Amino acid sequence: MNNVKIAGIGAYLPSLVVTNDRISELVETNDEWIVQRTGVSERRISEGENTSDIATKAAKIALERAGVDAKDLELIIVATISPDMFIPSAACLVQSNLDADKAACFDISVACSGFVYALEIAKGLMNSMNYKNALVVGAEVLSKVTDWTDRGTCILFGDGGGAAVLKQSETKGIIKSYLRADGKKGNALTIGGPDIDTPFSKEKILKDKYIKMNGREVFKFAVGAIEEAVNEVIKDTNISLEEIKYIVPHQANSRIIELAAAKLNLNIDKFYINLDKVANTSSATVPIALNEMYEKGLLKKGDKIILVAFGGGLTYGSTLLEW
Ligand code: UT7
Repeated sequence: MNNVKIAGIGAYLPSLVVTNDRISELVETNDEWIVQRTGVSERRISEGENTSDIATKAAKIALERAGVDAKDLELIIVATISPDMFIPSAACLVQSNLDADKAACFDISVACSGFVYALEIAKGLMNSMNYKNALVVGAEVLSKVTDWTDRGTCILFGDGGGAAVLKQSETKGIIKSYLRADGKKGNALTIGGPDIDTPFSKEKILKDKYIKMNGREVFKFAVGAIEEAVNEVIKDTNISLEEIKYIVPHQANSRIIELAAAKLNLNIDKFYINLDKVANTSSATVPIALNEMYEKGLLKKGDKIILVAFGGGLTYGSTLLEW
């Protein structure tokens, strides 16, 4: 098995900042409630850019930092639950934007755990297909699937994208992943698909077009999922939690992260948290956070890091990596 590492990271956020006060003009809520219950103060919202536009902008930064020409990419995976359309995939749209003519391209639908899943899928394909370079993106325009009249959900989400260029490497890079799901709990967080209403359907089945969520159920699931995924990914690796420099969690709610840290008996400072300004961008939270850490100079060669995510599906998972 060849080693695969993140050779370049990038992110892009739409420029429009939407504060909690602005949201309180839309639904019955207020800044104090949102900050106390979630930790979110503001989020970025697209004024028209679609998921593939955001993904492309993040990818260009990651490619430049990795020193990889888009023409040398052999694989593009976009993790998203808000693609521009069913066909072509967001990955094919990104390929076209980048002129990455040699790449195999597909999207994965794993909700907020998508980036973590995609890293391991890319690593596996880079090994089985002997690809030297791959692009993994998490990108979302959740604002287009948000019910802006539902105060239980519209306060939580934002738009944005993050991208990583992966290369085969001498150093360890992605050491291990832990990927799980609990499909029986899927109803706790849904975005409906097209209606079933054809000349042949026995009855009309009309689907919700927007995010629907049982917040309390997802909350409870999330705390246990982080604890399990962090413990499982270091199991049998000879790496202890003390040796982990940072845990980069999915940015859904600061209370979820605080409770998970307490259960793991870890200082909250080990967790990188940026959700106050970015909110929950689903598959994009982890690479956006990693990009911020990179830009702040926090990531040093050899640092051991755990990425951990949970979300719709319900899915969850983690990645242990050496920077
Ligand atoms: O990527 C994964 C995606 N999802 C998540 O991670 C979500 C996980 N869940 C959560 O983050 C939290 O459950 C929420 C932030 C969504 C909700 O917080 P909560 O502490 O679980 O609140 P709740 O739903 O139990 O509601 C408490 C009260 C209710 O009023 P009553 O019944 O006690 O009178 C709600 O009607 O707060 C009310 N409420 C609000 N009030 C002001 C619910 N939403 C709002 C709001 N502003 N936006």
